Amino acid sequence: MSIDTKFLNLFIKATENAAIGASKFIGKKNKIAADKSAVDPMRRELNKINMEGTIVIGEGEMDEAPMLYIGEKLGTLNGPKFDIAVDPLEGTKFTANNQPNAFSVLAVANKGELLSAPDTYMEKIAIGTNLPKDLLDIDFGVEKNIKLLADAKSKKVSELNACVLNRPRHEEIIKTLNELNVKINYITDGDIAGVLSVIGENPKNDIYYSTGGGPEGVLAAAALSCYGGQIQGRLVLNDEEKIRAKKLGIKDFKKKYNIDDMVKGDVIFCATGVTNGDLAKGVKDLGNEFEVSTFALHKSKKINKIVTNIYNK
Ligand code: FBP
Repeated sequence: MSIDTKFLNLFIKATENAAIGASKFIGKKNKIAADKSAVDPMRRELNKINMEGTIVIGEGEMDEAPMLYIGEKLGTLNGPKFDIAVDPLEGTKFTANNQPNAFSVLAVANKGELLSAPDTYMEKIAIGTNLPKDLLDIDFGVEKNIKLLADAKSKKVSELNACVLNRPRHEEIIKTLNELNVKINYITDGDIAGVLSVIGENPKNDIYYSTGGGPEGVLAAAALSCYGGQIQGRLVLNDEEKIRAKKLGIKDFKKKYNIDDMVKGDVIFCATGVTNGDLAKGVKDLGNEFEVSTFALHKSKKINKIVTNIYNK
């Protein structure tokens, strides 16, 4: 069932308001305040929508009871039932340090159609469009995956670009990519944008290959699914995290989630820039007004656009 497209603008409002909130803390070296300043307005806007929304990816889990926790009901409770994944501020460090690529983001699907993942790490590999389904597999290892991708793209391995989140835990991945002569484009944070760098007309990367946040994996999957890109993810869980995952209904802790396991059916995805970035421009302070820019996707309606709006201060 497709989502009525009248909801798109309402969800855009939620990320716009969150981005304006977070923008007040750009360069202020305070990640927590920047995040909080995005959460409150996003929640307020979502609560105005005539829907019965449930947070499936949020700011935390029920026991911690923050705002926008997993399981929280949102909206007037009078309207369609939606699963909602939110990250009111992706790139808290980027915001605190006034660096590019911070944005407010959410994804919406019909009830039961988005994976609810705990706030733990997830191994991820993502590739772009027009490639054979289920081409790669985390368990194949880096070398085999890279060779399969090169074959499928009729490229030499040394012509491939890989996006990697720069972390010590990726030492082995980086070593193998270097041995294969794959060009590595490192990111310091922000792996939703990292994953999405494999799509578009002239994608910067052929593959995203790293372990980042699980919630970010599902959000990126929502956007990728609008393009026909692919992602495979597997949660990385310690004993305490396994208990939390179980509470969210996850039984197989080693499950590899392909894109269809994370996102089923129709989806809306909105990302409003806080600082300038690859997906959208940052919030612009015009004096008495703010100009905001949102990257918006609606899968079933084939909508893929940048929406710019002005808000009075
Ligand atoms: P926050 O904006 O919530 O700080 O997340 C930034 C981020 O870089 C994500 O994009 C990524 O998935 C995750 O942190 C990686 O976690 P870590 O910094 O612990 O490696």
